[in-house]
Amino acid sequence: MTNASSTTGAVVELVHVTKRYGPPGTPPAVTELSLTIPAGEVCVLVGPSGCGKTTTMKMINRLVEPTSGRLTIDGRDVLQLSPVELRRRIGYVIQQVGLFPHMTVGDNASVVPRLLRWPEARTRARVEELLDLVGLDPAAYRDRYPSELSGGERQRVGVARALAADPPVMLMDEPFGAVDPIRRDRDPAARRDPGPVRHAGRDPRASGQRVRRALRRR
Ligand SMILES: Nc1ncnc2c1ncn2[C@@H]1O[C@H](COP(=O)(O)OP(=O)(O)OP(=O)(O)O)[C@@H](O)[C@H]1O
Ligand SMILES: [Mg+2]
Repeated sequence: MTNASSTTGAVVELVHVTKRYGPPGTPPAVTELSLTIPAGEVCVLVGPSGCGKTTTMKMINRLVEPTSGRLTIDGRDVLQLSPVELRRRIGYVIQQVGLFPHMTVGDNASVVPRLLRWPEARTRARVEELLDLVGLDPAAYRDRYPSELSGGERQRVGVARALAADPPVMLMDEPFGAVDPIRRDRDPAARRDPGPVRHAGRDPRASGQRVRRALRRR
């Protein structure tokens, strides 16, 4: 078990969470899911296509609201937190990457530090560090636009963007699906990726050594 006291992550708890996209009577996408992810621990959702993995992650940062049940982060109900505050505290790599097409790689990776009003020099240094971490040479990639990247490169920029401000909680939805296994093996960020949900401490790079828990859903 991870020694949670040595980390500054956040506890994520789901209690009997159900999400039904359709009207009452239609089958839910997520049914009565209860789960506690201790601070600093890595949790991986594993299951067949359509079983509700993305829906579960979107409920944690309130992109989707549960039909019933309760979700908390460090004991605070996510429905009571402002969506803006919540999303600043949660790094999220969405399944379709979702880079801003009109912004360069460097600007995409700087979005959260800029929202947090980091000094420009600190933001720039952090972006260099992150592009390096995901195996993209900053000099070659920083000024390119997403349309000038391969699918796997775009995904890696998405990971750099999510890690930028060291959020206490990271959600990663198949962040390396388009990165080939050889590249994945070489790439330090990809090698440490545990799968679709990653719940990391303050230094996400250290969390690969922590406990990994695979939940078989269905
Ligand atoms: N916005 C939506 N409106 C209606 N139904 C939806 C919506 N989003 C997802 N669903 C349905 O909810 C179920 C769960 O979808 P979800 O995207 O959570 O699956 P997943 O486990 O992430 O699948 P995959 O492995 O293919 O990414 C699916 O049956 C899907 O069709
Ligand atoms: Mg999904």
